Amino acid sequence: MKISVLTLFPHMFAGPMGESIIGRAVDNNLLELNIMNIRDYTKNKHKKVDDYPYGGGAGMVMQADPIFNALENIDTKNSRIIYMTPKGKVFNQDLAIELSKEEHIVFLCGHYEGVDQRVIDHWVTDEVSIGDYVLTGGELPAMVMIDSIARMIPGVLGQKVSYMDESIYSGLLEYPHYTRPSEYRDMPVPEVLLSGNHKRIEEWRMEKSLEITRKRRPDMYKKYKNL
Ligand code: 6GU
Repeated sequence: MKISVLTLFPHMFAGPMGESIIGRAVDNNLLELNIMNIRDYTKNKHKKVDDYPYGGGAGMVMQADPIFNALENIDTKNSRIIYMTPKGKVFNQDLAIELSKEEHIVFLCGHYEGVDQRVIDHWVTDEVSIGDYVLTGGELPAMVMIDSIARMIPGVLGQKVSYMDESIYSGLLEYPHYTRPSEYRDMPVPEVLLSGNHKRIEEWRMEKSLEITRKRRPDMYKKYKNL
């Protein structure tokens, strides 16, 4: 899969997208990341990318021309073009799975008061938010989405990690995890996990998943139990 990002702050992506699982996905060519600096597509000598809003009001609006030019510089034929905005529909796992099947996704990251509406009307296929709180720009939300989309691409996660997403556990919160030592500062690991009895272990984990989901996320619990 290819992901292009249009941003005024391309350096923000280097760290988070260069490390760990996403970094490895890029190294292994499972994911191609194309970070584009919108400022590189200005045609004025001051490289200006924003201006005052028509009608007045606080803040600046990102101008249409640099964004149009940037989008005309890439192949957008079979692409989802996603504008990151608090006004968008709220991102979730179902959308992550859907987007992980796309061949090319373009993320447009707004800053200030956002982008000229004509960009949205002409290019954008989806407007997406990552939750009900306000951030200073679309870069962190785009990285959150890239992380969750990329981990759903076949081969990005190891076999062992990926099963959690499809198994009986889907729709539930995870059970607790323990590793060595079996006793730490008078705190023992639950006996069942040391028993070697895989059936009992699975039952215990399912029980714990149900318990924590019921306590913390009654909405998810009801959905899982079809209540
Ligand atoms: Cl996509 N952008 C901004 N600026 N704030 C947000 C958001 C997006 N999603 C949640 N908060």
